[in-house]
Amino acid sequence: MIVTLASSKGGVGKSTITGCLAGVWAAEGETVQIVDLDNNRTVSRWFADATTRPKNISVSTPDPTALTEHLAELAATTAPDVILIDVAGTYERALTVAVARAHLTLIPAAPSEADIFEAGRVAGHITSVFQAFGRDPLYRLLLNRVPSLTSSAQLYAVMEIVRLKLPRLRTRIMQRAAYEELGLSGQPPHFSDRKRPTVAKAIQELNSVRDDIETLFHSHVQSNAHIEGAAA
Ligand SMILES: Nc1ncnc2c1ncn2[C@@H]1O[C@H](COP(=O)(O)OP(=O)(O)OP(=O)(O)O)[C@@H](O)[C@H]1O
Ligand SMILES: [Mg+2]
Repeated sequence: MIVTLASSKGGVGKSTITGCLAGVWAAEGETVQIVDLDNNRTVSRWFADATTRPKNISVSTPDPTALTEHLAELAATTAPDVILIDVAGTYERALTVAVARAHLTLIPAAPSEADIFEAGRVAGHITSVFQAFGRDPLYRLLLNRVPSLTSSAQLYAVMEIVRLKLPRLRTRIMQRAAYEELGLSGQPPHFSDRKRPTVAKAIQELNSVRDDIETLFHSHVQSNAHIEGAAA
């Protein structure tokens, strides 16, 4: 399964969610490959220390123009169970290629006007990329950095998502120290001190995101198989 974390906006949490989700599958013994297409090499930096990096997580930094070849090589060599692609927060060719290659694209967005506006633009872009191939895109907005105190702003944000008809992942990711720490400790929540409340809550949230992703992936694969079967 290939999941791309995409947004044309910087700082929405693409690298954080990439690293934290990698920890979810790695903790279950699955092999995870992070493909870092961001020239800033953020997520590669976070996992640079091989002594602290969870052993089931590998990171590669291919040239974005050679992504297709890189994915083929991975399939033929290490064949990771899950591939997570992290892209830069700008509109560039890497975003289009990463979205075209993924089974599912997640667009992180905080409950703010600017993030939701950008998520809408990316969703439109994804739809046009897939239309060019005659395929249905599978993407979801993922609400991230949701403040723990519910405010009217949050309510308006959700109304805006509905108005723009943006499909949203069921689970939301809250604003938590456990997520912020990844960049400094190199440890996703699943590999941190689980006794700390912030870590325990993050683990619960991430497991729920994982369940949402797997449910979506299986139903999408099945419905595509059905369509292909009918066309055969
Ligand atoms: N749920 C969260 N709770 C707390 N902090 C978060 C959360 N998600 C992201 N952050 C923080 O927000 C900042 C930006 O996150 P991140 O680097 O993952 O964004 P990005 O979309 O990858 O940015 P860029 O486009 O620059 O690559 C980081 O400092 C990160 O620790
Ligand atoms: Mg990033």
